[in-house]
Amino acid sequence: MSATYNDWDRLDELSRDLERARTSLSEELDAIDWYQQRIAASKDPELRHLLKHNMDEEKEHAAMLIEWIRKHDPEQDRAFKEHD
Ligand SMILES: [Fe+2]
Repeated sequence: MSATYNDWDRLDELSRDLERARTSLSEELDAIDWYQQRIAASKDPELRHLLKHNMDEEKEHAAMLIEWIRKHDPEQDRAFKEHD
């Protein structure tokens, strides 16, 4: 059950999966932001390189989730196309 929604039992499967995908996307974006801040703050080139690698992987994860959401939420897909 989702930690962010109280009426989980009343949701259909698509709504549940969209909630899972959007929550996961939010977590990926948070991770990207944390890595960005740590890269900016660190003075160690080796650590910065490692963190950059990890941040780029999180960006790939975020992109995959966005594509899944676009496939299952036509209005969200339309909004992306409108602002491309
Ligand atoms: Fe990730």
